[in-house]
Amino acid sequence: DQCCSIEDRNEVQALWQSIWSAENTGKRTIIGHQIFEELFDINPGTKDLFKRVNVEDTSSPEFEAHVLRVMNGLDTLIGVLDDPATGYSLITHLAEQHKAREGFKPSYFKDIGVALKRVLPQVASCFNPEAWDHCFNGFVEAITNKM
Ligand code: HEM
Repeated sequence: DQCCSIEDRNEVQALWQSIWSAENTGKRTIIGHQIFEELFDINPGTKDLFKRVNVEDTSSPEFEAHVLRVMNGLDTLIGVLDDPATGYSLITHLAEQHKAREGFKPSYFKDIGVALKRVLPQVASCFNPEAWDHCFNGFVEAITNKM
Protein backbone atom coordinates (compact mmCIF):
# COMPACT_ATOMS: atom_id res chain seq x y z
CA ASP A 1 0.00 0.00 0.00
CA GLN A 2 1.39 3.37 -1.06
CA CYS A 3 -0.95 5.48 1.07
CA CYS A 4 0.22 7.88 3.77
CA SER A 5 -1.92 6.18 6.43
CA ILE A 6 -2.62 7.52 9.92
CA GLU A 7 0.12 5.23 11.24
CA ASP A 8 2.54 6.47 8.57
CA ARG A 9 1.74 10.09 9.38
CA ASN A 10 2.29 9.51 13.06
CA GLU A 11 5.67 7.94 12.35
CA VAL A 12 6.73 10.78 10.07
CA GLN A 13 5.55 13.45 12.51
CA ALA A 14 7.35 11.75 15.41
CA LEU A 15 10.55 11.50 13.37
CA TRP A 16 10.31 15.15 12.37
CA GLN A 17 9.61 16.26 15.93
CA SER A 18 12.76 14.48 17.12
CA ILE A 19 14.73 16.62 14.66
CA TRP A 20 12.83 19.84 15.15
CA SER A 21 12.60 19.91 18.93
CA ALA A 22 16.30 19.23 19.36
CA GLU A 23 17.80 21.51 22.01
CA ASN A 24 20.42 22.73 19.61
CA THR A 25 18.50 24.96 17.18
CA GLY A 26 21.50 25.04 14.87
CA LYS A 27 20.80 21.40 14.15
CA ARG A 28 18.09 22.27 11.63
CA THR A 29 20.55 24.36 9.69
CA ILE A 30 23.16 21.60 9.77
CA ILE A 31 20.67 18.97 8.63
CA GLY A 32 19.38 21.29 5.90
CA HIS A 33 22.93 21.82 4.66
CA GLN A 34 23.55 18.07 4.63
CA ILE A 35 20.39 17.56 2.57
CA PHE A 36 21.58 20.10 -0.02
CA GLU A 37 25.10 18.61 -0.09
CA GLU A 38 23.55 15.22 -0.85
CA LEU A 39 21.27 16.75 -3.49
CA PHE A 40 24.28 18.31 -5.26
CA ASP A 41 26.06 14.95 -5.07
CA ILE A 42 23.06 13.06 -6.51
CA ASN A 43 22.40 15.65 -9.23
CA PRO A 44 25.19 18.22 -9.64
CA GLY A 45 23.10 20.02 -12.28
CA THR A 46 20.72 21.30 -9.58
CA LYS A 47 23.39 23.53 -8.05
CA ASP A 48 23.03 26.21 -10.75
CA LEU A 49 19.44 26.84 -9.69
CA PHE A 50 20.63 28.33 -6.41
CA LYS A 51 22.96 31.02 -7.74
CA ARG A 52 20.60 33.74 -6.59
CA VAL A 53 20.93 32.51 -3.01
CA ASN A 54 24.73 32.40 -3.18
CA VAL A 55 25.25 28.65 -3.54
CA GLU A 56 28.90 29.39 -4.40
CA ASP A 57 29.37 29.92 -0.68
CA THR A 58 27.07 27.49 1.11
CA SER A 59 27.98 28.97 4.50
CA SER A 60 26.90 32.47 3.42
CA PRO A 61 23.90 34.08 5.13
CA GLU A 62 22.03 34.00 1.82
CA PHE A 63 22.33 30.24 1.40
CA GLU A 64 21.76 29.72 5.13
CA ALA A 65 18.47 31.60 4.86
CA HIS A 66 17.49 29.57 1.81
CA VAL A 67 18.17 26.31 3.67
CA LEU A 68 15.96 27.51 6.52
CA ARG A 69 13.12 28.42 4.12
CA VAL A 70 13.18 24.91 2.70
CA MET A 71 13.38 23.28 6.16
CA ASN A 72 10.46 25.43 7.32
CA GLY A 73 8.58 24.41 4.18
CA LEU A 74 9.11 20.74 5.02
CA ASP A 75 8.07 21.38 8.62
CA THR A 76 4.86 23.02 7.45
CA LEU A 77 4.04 20.18 5.06
CA ILE A 78 4.65 17.51 7.69
CA GLY A 79 2.63 19.49 10.23
CA VAL A 80 -0.49 19.38 8.04
CA LEU A 81 -0.33 15.71 7.09
CA ASP A 82 -3.54 15.29 9.15
CA ASP A 83 -5.26 18.04 7.19
CA PRO A 84 -5.12 17.00 3.51
CA ALA A 85 -7.09 20.01 2.23
CA THR A 86 -4.60 22.48 3.68
CA GLY A 87 -1.74 20.22 2.61
CA TYR A 88 -3.06 20.22 -0.93
CA SER A 89 -3.23 24.01 -0.92
CA LEU A 90 0.36 24.23 0.36
CA ILE A 91 1.49 21.85 -2.36
CA THR A 92 -0.27 23.91 -5.02
CA HIS A 93 1.52 27.01 -3.77
CA LEU A 94 4.91 25.24 -3.65
CA ALA A 95 4.36 23.94 -7.18
CA GLU A 96 3.77 27.50 -8.44
CA GLN A 97 6.86 28.82 -6.63
CA HIS A 98 9.07 26.09 -8.09
CA LYS A 99 7.59 26.17 -11.58
CA ALA A 100 8.52 29.85 -11.74
CA ARG A 101 12.24 29.10 -11.21
CA GLU A 102 14.30 28.93 -14.37
CA GLY A 103 15.58 25.44 -15.14
CA PHE A 104 13.45 23.68 -12.54
CA LYS A 105 12.35 20.12 -13.32
CA PRO A 106 9.70 18.24 -11.31
CA SER A 107 12.02 15.21 -11.22
CA TYR A 108 14.25 17.19 -8.84
CA PHE A 109 11.74 16.44 -6.10
CA LYS A 110 12.68 12.77 -6.53
CA ASP A 111 16.37 13.68 -6.22
CA ILE A 112 15.79 15.56 -2.98
CA GLY A 113 13.78 12.53 -1.82
CA VAL A 114 16.92 10.40 -2.25
CA ALA A 115 18.93 13.05 -0.39
CA LEU A 116 16.44 13.07 2.49
CA LYS A 117 16.63 9.29 2.75
CA ARG A 118 20.40 9.47 3.04
CA VAL A 119 20.41 12.17 5.71
CA LEU A 120 17.37 11.52 7.92
CA PRO A 121 18.34 8.00 9.11
CA GLN A 122 21.68 9.46 10.22
CA VAL A 123 20.13 12.19 12.34
CA ALA A 124 17.07 10.42 13.78
CA SER A 125 17.20 7.13 15.61
CA CYS A 126 13.73 5.92 14.61
CA PHE A 127 13.64 6.50 10.87
CA ASN A 128 10.94 4.30 9.38
CA PRO A 129 11.67 4.15 5.64
CA GLU A 130 8.31 2.63 4.67
CA ALA A 131 6.28 5.28 6.50
CA TRP A 132 8.50 8.03 5.09
CA ASP A 133 8.18 6.69 1.53
CA HIS A 134 4.41 6.39 1.76
CA CYS A 135 4.07 10.05 2.75
CA PHE A 136 6.94 11.61 0.77
CA ASN A 137 6.07 9.77 -2.47
CA GLY A 138 2.51 11.03 -2.08
CA PHE A 139 3.87 14.56 -1.85
CA VAL A 140 6.06 14.10 -4.95
CA GLU A 141 3.15 12.69 -6.92
CA ALA A 142 0.83 15.51 -5.87
CA ILE A 143 3.32 18.30 -6.60
CA THR A 144 4.36 16.76 -9.93
CA ASN A 145 0.71 16.66 -11.00
CA LYS A 146 0.56 20.41 -10.34
CA MET A 147 3.51 21.28 -12.57
C1 HEM B 1 12.72 28.02 -3.05
C2 HEM B 1 10.63 24.63 -0.31
C3 HEM B 1 12.58 21.20 -3.07
C4 HEM B 1 14.59 24.58 -5.89
C5 HEM B 1 12.01 27.37 -2.07
C6 HEM B 1 11.27 28.04 -1.03
C7 HEM B 1 10.68 27.10 -0.27
C8 HEM B 1 11.04 25.83 -0.81
C9 HEM B 1 9.77 27.31 0.94
C10 HEM B 1 11.17 29.56 -0.89
C11 HEM B 1 10.07 30.01 -1.79
C12 HEM B 1 10.32 31.34 -2.40
O1 HEM B 1 10.86 32.22 -1.75
O2 HEM B 1 9.99 31.50 -3.60
C13 HEM B 1 10.97 23.40 -0.84
C14 HEM B 1 10.52 22.14 -0.31
C15 HEM B 1 11.04 21.17 -1.10
C16 HEM B 1 11.87 21.83 -2.10
C17 HEM B 1 9.61 21.96 0.89
C18 HEM B 1 10.86 19.69 -1.02
C19 HEM B 1 11.44 18.91 -0.21
C20 HEM B 1 13.31 21.81 -4.06
C21 HEM B 1 14.11 21.13 -5.05
C22 HEM B 1 14.69 22.09 -5.83
C23 HEM B 1 14.25 23.37 -5.34
C24 HEM B 1 14.22 19.62 -5.19
C25 HEM B 1 15.62 21.94 -7.01
C26 HEM B 1 16.52 21.03 -7.12
C27 HEM B 1 14.26 25.79 -5.36
C28 HEM B 1 14.71 27.06 -5.92
C29 HEM B 1 14.18 28.05 -5.09
C30 HEM B 1 13.41 27.37 -4.06
C31 HEM B 1 15.59 27.24 -7.15
C32 HEM B 1 14.38 29.55 -5.23
C33 HEM B 1 15.70 29.96 -4.64
C34 HEM B 1 15.84 31.47 -4.70
O3 HEM B 1 15.31 32.15 -3.82
O4 HEM B 1 16.45 31.94 -5.66
N1 HEM B 1 11.86 26.03 -1.91
N2 HEM B 1 11.78 23.18 -1.92
N3 HEM B 1 13.44 23.16 -4.25
N4 HEM B 1 13.49 26.02 -4.26
FE1 HEM B 1 12.61 24.61 -3.12
